[in-house]
Amino acid sequence: MLVKAIGTSKVSIRLSLWDNFNEMQHDDPVPQYTYLVNRISELYPGLAYIHVTEPRIVNFEVQDPKGKSNDFIREIWSLRSLISAGGYTRDLAIEWADTKGDIIAFGRTFISNPDLPRRLEQNIALTPYDRSTFYDVGWRQGIYRLPICMISLLTVDVEFCTPV
Ligand SMILES: Cc1cc2nc3c(=O)[nH]c(=O)nc-3n(C[C@H](O)[C@H](O)[C@H](O)COP(=O)(O)O)c2cc1C
Repeated sequence: MLVKAIGTSKVSIRLSLWDNFNEMQHDDPVPQYTYLVNRISELYPGLAYIHVTEPRIVNFEVQDPKGKSNDFIREIWSLRSLISAGGYTRDLAIEWADTKGDIIAFGRTFISNPDLPRRLEQNIALTPYDRSTFYDVGWRQGIYRLPICMISLLTVDVEFCTPV
């Protein structure tokens, strides 16, 4: 329906195949998602991108992926845009972008670091997130009260700054 309405290139899909959020865990998601990504490739090769969450994140906790991997999706969807999210640090993001060719997405650290791209670019320490504030309503905390690191607005290289 979306593809018909706005065109394939403006549509994408996010696949969270390893998570157990809302009790959705599979014992082995690989066969089903192999089929799904193959069908997407056949029917909608011009989809803007596929976005995957990594098996290192389950229910918001970083854990050992124990051999689980999205590489089978990378193989099927090869040469097209794949965004990967889940527990990335700056170093890990650089390593995966370089070795796997993924576009890296950040979730929680973006909430506590609205200037995240600049901080990553300049290797400035990140403000830790506070999960208890994520869903705060109003202007008190969480995503509505975003500390911006002023030094990151400068174009000089700095290693650390205190959020204001
Ligand atoms: C406040 C909040 C809301 C989120 N909402 C969604 C959502 O609606 N759909 C979804 O697929 N993921 C959602 N996520 C998961 C993130 O998109 C991301 O996959 C997850 O936080 C792992 O990436 P990270 O380790 O960089 O945070 C949410 C995460 C947070 C913190």
